[in-house]
Amino acid sequence: MERDSAAGKVGLRRGAAPAARTLSGRCCGWVTRATPRRGELDGAERRAGKRCTPAPASKPGAAPWDLAPGYAAAAAAAATVGRMSPYAVAVLTAVLLVFCYAIRKARASKLPPSPPWLPLLGHLHLLGRLPHRSLRELHARYGTDGGLLLLQLGRRRTLVVSTAAAAADLYRNHDLAFASRVPSAAVSKLTYGCNSISFVPHGDAWRRSKKMAVIHLLSPRRADSFAPVRAAEAAALVAGIRREMAAAAAGDGAVELRELLYEYSNAVVTRATTGAAGATAARIKRLLGNSAAFMSGLQAEDVMPGAAAKVVRWATGFEKKLDGEVEAWDEFLSEIVAEHMEKKGDGGPGEEDFLDVLLRLREEGAAGFELTDDYIKSIIKDMIAAGTETSSVTLEWAMVELVGNPRAMTKLQDEITRATGDKATIEEDDLNNMEYLKAVLKEALRLHPPAPLLIPHESTAAAVVQGYEIPAKTALFMNAWAIGRDPAAWGETADEFRPERFLGGGSAADVDMRGSDYQLLPFGAGRRLCPGISFAMPVLEVALASLVRHFDWELPAGTHLDMSEASGLTTPPLAPLRLIPKCRALA
Ligand code: HEM
Repeated sequence: MERDSAAGKVGLRRGAAPAARTLSGRCCGWVTRATPRRGELDGAERRAGKRCTPAPASKPGAAPWDLAPGYAAAAAAAATVGRMSPYAVAVLTAVLLVFCYAIRKARASKLPPSPPWLPLLGHLHLLGRLPHRSLRELHARYGTDGGLLLLQLGRRRTLVVSTAAAAADLYRNHDLAFASRVPSAAVSKLTYGCNSISFVPHGDAWRRSKKMAVIHLLSPRRADSFAPVRAAEAAALVAGIRREMAAAAAGDGAVELRELLYEYSNAVVTRATTGAAGATAARIKRLLGNSAAFMSGLQAEDVMPGAAAKVVRWATGFEKKLDGEVEAWDEFLSEIVAEHMEKKGDGGPGEEDFLDVLLRLREEGAAGFELTDDYIKSIIKDMIAAGTETSSVTLEWAMVELVGNPRAMTKLQDEITRATGDKATIEEDDLNNMEYLKAVLKEALRLHPPAPLLIPHESTAAAVVQGYEIPAKTALFMNAWAIGRDPAAWGETADEFRPERFLGGGSAADVDMRGSDYQLLPFGAGRRLCPGISFAMPVLEVALASLVRHFDWELPAGTHLDMSEASGLTTPPLAPLRLIPKCRALA
């Protein structure tokens, strides 16, 4: 019902496109690229029960000279044309021909529906500050019931998937066609010519790299080997909070969590990848922050052809800044590789970080392909970038939701106390007895996937999706945020924080996040599924368990929880979370 009334509004809006009404006489919005969804009727005509059909050549039974008013107008227009100069007539004819051709083409190809568009920008102006939210609204107004919407984002044709059912169809039937990445000149430079995993186009190079990472770097066994790193950094997180508490005592007693959570995940990921901590982690943080600025937002090549975009990047100084950033990263990564080469052989296999593993694979020739210096640096950088902010943002949202749901907070604290007894620290074996903790994290990732549109994919072959023809080289935005809140998959409580849904007997007890249940996609699915899940989950679990085991948390007096999101590559809360921690007595 709700969707139908939305469609009604759309019909009116589309019908209101004056050009369409004037030119076609009476038919609805086909003149714009707004392809009507259930939209053969516009609002007024729907109410009148009329079908929106093209005007008949003449009324049935009427004499040929008995012209409808529209045709009288056409005759008048023809008389006007007769008075125009031949040049103006030629231009007018050319415009009409192009116009008719565009309409025929749009009608002939069965593309999914789109909103009205602007020249050059296409639909870029409709995206707003938080694209995942704008896209869900656009889908509700213009998309198909099946979950598809087509946008023209500058020069890029983009398919948007917004429902769990459409995601299932895409992953089950078209995963291979959509397994590539959208090319970007800035990303290419920042990744040694797309020499990593995350941004590499689909093909042999990506397949080899991903296989190598899954087997040698991100396997559950290797993730287990970093348990001491996680334990040490979780203890440092708790100690950091205690330090901040002392400093905050003079004020309102509140501690800002964002910075502490970022330091925690940055330290775990940096130590696992390069063995480095402290000053190096701080340097990485600075570099990551700078890179994000080059990779997010509108790029020149999004709205203009490659050569022109290059000129604009050069003229605006973008290219120079980008080169500086690339150099800074390279200098940093080269230093780390050189240090590792020097200390080679110092540690046993149990203490290997990712860089040790890559250097060993190179020496043994065991990767099955050449691991050049640039390749190794690029992989290390990819892991650091992919693993750091995704984890800290998830932890911050989990804390926001727990503080907003005191019942869930108490339930979690009780579970952790039961599982850990009177031990001062949380051991990783204890995590196996914390079902509610895992449910809380799943629920936080469902409502707040850190990459709400995943990493944009691109198709390499034409595909027919739900009866619509999607040409090759179409970008794909999988709206994991909208899919995680799709009422058809999650019911009426889709927008509520209810970790119980994932417990035994709950409505989503069997739903997992490893890419086989398409209604829960914080890590994506299919070929491009995040390979870092086994690494990430214990990082999140140990930290969250430590935060609520050691402290009770309260909002500062007179403040409220702000659920709005910041925009960017990841979407943390808009306002960094400030809470008052109170030390808990351990059982
Ligand atoms: C909460 C933590 C994390 C979340 C939510 C997350 C989420 C994601 C998402 C959404 C994608 C893109 C999937 C797609 O494009 O369809 C991705 C890709 C990737 N992630 Fe993660 N990730 C996390 C942690 C990690 C960690 C810790 C690592 C490694 C240390 C990692 C490594 C990667 C890599 C290499 C890719 C690229 C895969 C490919 O393109 O084939 N991620 N991740």
